[in-house]
Amino acid sequence: MTVEETPVTVLGLGAMGRALAAALLGNGHKTTVWNRTAGRAEGLDATVARSAGEAVEASPLVVVCLLNHDTVHQVLDPVGDSLAGRTVVNLTNGTPAQAREMASWVGERGGRFLDGGIMAVPPMIGTPAGLILYSGVRQAFEEHEPALAHLATARYLGEDPGDAARYDLALLSAMYGMFGGFFHGAALVDSAKASLPTFAELVAPWINAMTASLPRMAESLASGDHAASFSSVQMQATGYANLIDASRDQGVSTLLVEPMGSLLDRGVAAGLGTGGLSALIELLYART
Ligand SMILES: NC(=O)c1ccc[n+]([C@@H]2O[C@H](COP(=O)([O-])OP(=O)(O)OC[C@H]3O[C@@H](n4cnc5c(N)ncnc54)[C@H](OP(=O)(O)O)[C@@H]3O)[C@@H](O)[C@H]2O)c1
Repeated sequence: MTVEETPVTVLGLGAMGRALAAALLGNGHKTTVWNRTAGRAEGLDATVARSAGEAVEASPLVVVCLLNHDTVHQVLDPVGDSLAGRTVVNLTNGTPAQAREMASWVGERGGRFLDGGIMAVPPMIGTPAGLILYSGVRQAFEEHEPALAHLATARYLGEDPGDAARYDLALLSAMYGMFGGFFHGAALVDSAKASLPTFAELVAPWINAMTASLPRMAESLASGDHAASFSSVQMQATGYANLIDASRDQGVSTLLVEPMGSLLDRGVAAGLGTGGLSALIELLYART
């Protein structure tokens, strides 16, 4: 006997919503979809609801993937009475405060809420390479984990609905830092008519090698022990000035690299020069 998959509704058929709906359909879920602009379900073998309310009422599990928090309210507010007894999984990017607000709002209407952070691009959805972080009502996650696992690898972080958004944004911060560094490096190479393919060949292994130090830095932050084993802040602040100077020499904007240079200089001025780089994290916020 085959196990019947949970019927799922998907609200929002942008690039990500379509990928989510396709993954559910591909795994045998009866999938009902709704999108503000008609016609976005073309090519999906889904049931197309005439309204958001009709879509919500079609399934016990409602996945929302819209542009931002405001649009989620615009779509859900008129259908709030239909949420009782259902689980709402909001995969729309947002802040921890927005996730907590939405959790209360859904809870007040008798629904269960999970917030999700998608750590994937659409082609990774429906594959284990995609990761979606969840937080909120544990029982709802456990009950719907089989369906959520069809979207991507599903990782539950805890009952605080804000956690998925917090970790999502923290991971995006690391990603954009990497892209910003890559953009600047590419500009530095290309503005000198040096070889971009050579840069591309060298950069990924270098970044991969450097990511090995991240868990150790997190440990240093947790313990407060920032002793430098081999690369002091002073040494790095000195070398970093060359990065700024070479950029200026070549007419490359220092917009992306100046903040890190300032932080290194602040670290030296604060007496952290002999310590390791992780000490600089403590200059970003008041640690309690
Ligand atoms: N794409 C990615 O690589 C990616 C990766 C991770 C997370 N995400 C997150 O996933 C969410 C959706 O991203 P996406 O790539 O699918 O974006 P998208 O292609 O721009 O789609 C946006 C969706 O929001 C809907 N929408 C916008 N304003 C609306 C409104 N006022 N009322 C009702 N619906 C409205 C759009 O409907 P219409 O078709 O009617 O405009 C569409 O369904 C975002 O929060 C994004 O940050 C995306």
